[in-house]
Amino acid sequence: MTKPILVLGGTGKTGRRVVSRLQQRGHEVRAASRKGPTRFDWNDENTWEPALAGVGAAYLVDSQLSDAATSLSSFSKLAVASGVERLVLLSNRDWVVPAGEEKLPGERAVRESGAAWTILKPAWFAQNFSEDSLFRGQLVDGEVVLSTGDGAEPFIDVEDIADVAVAALTEDGHGGQAYELSGPRLLSLGAVIDEIAQATGRDITYRPVSPADFAAHATQQGLPEEYVALLNMLSGWISEGRFAQLADGVQRALGREPRDFTDYVRTTAATGVWHG
Ligand SMILES: NC(=O)c1ccc[n+]([C@@H]2O[C@H](COP(=O)([O-])OP(=O)(O)OC[C@H]3O[C@@H](n4cnc5c(N)ncnc54)[C@H](OP(=O)(O)O)[C@@H]3O)[C@@H](O)[C@H]2O)c1
Repeated sequence: MTKPILVLGGTGKTGRRVVSRLQQRGHEVRAASRKGPTRFDWNDENTWEPALAGVGAAYLVDSQLSDAATSLSSFSKLAVASGVERLVLLSNRDWVVPAGEEKLPGERAVRESGAAWTILKPAWFAQNFSEDSLFRGQLVDGEVVLSTGDGAEPFIDVEDIADVAVAALTEDGHGGQAYELSGPRLLSLGAVIDEIAQATGRDITYRPVSPADFAAHATQQGLPEEYVALLNMLSGWISEGRFAQLADGVQRALGREPRDFTDYVRTTAATGVWHG
């Protein structure tokens, strides 16, 4: 593909890795976000058309706002009208499928856009522990407080998500595929914190709390109420083991095993990010 590739969320955890991989392969890339080199704002439709001009494929990271699916629908239609042939959507596992609907509404918008589509459905990102300010901050402080109980999650390395996204953006054979993406092991939060403590040589503890106690703790730390509620919902699903299954999307898309959490911990600990 010789046309430029648009990467939304181009400054985010997956987007910036997609950008650097595409650049390494010699593609012309537009890294787009509100603060990115290409200005793109889901809340300002005037930024959409210039970002799409001449583009052949696009990586889509939604706005995470309540109208995200509606925006994705309008944007996908505009993309196809502008000549975009491939859309790769970073989605979620099926946790908010409205009753009676088959797929997440954002996914439906992309599937119905008319472009060749690929949908990525990842587990929790391993990099939340190093690139999300709440989790990283708790690790630096030496105590992780969450309402995840002793439930387990198959954390995925975002390097793997970026590899799958780049394959879908640049290679044939991924059109019409929804890839469920997980790491190779289920880990409880206690096991995660033990691994990070061991790799850093620091004393870090995990304190599982009730959703109400987490809300009180997080509100005291100044987190917005809406974000606290979202975290409690996501943590509750880990606690009840709702997504405690491994998925085979990395293997199906790339023909190899996903990276192990221990590798993520080892390389990340070496950067000093958990020492503050
Ligand atoms: N984190 C996880 O564990 C996880 C797991 C499964 C699925 N997901 C999904 O992955 C997606 C990304 O989540 P993330 O937490 O990893 O975020 P992220 O990609 O690290 O950060 C969000 C990105 O979107 C951009 N952005 C935010 N608001 C925007 C707006 N109004 N207009 C344009 N760009 C905007 C941000 O850049 P600017 O600030 O420069 O605009 C940033 O590049 C979400 O849809 C989430 O549901 C996340």
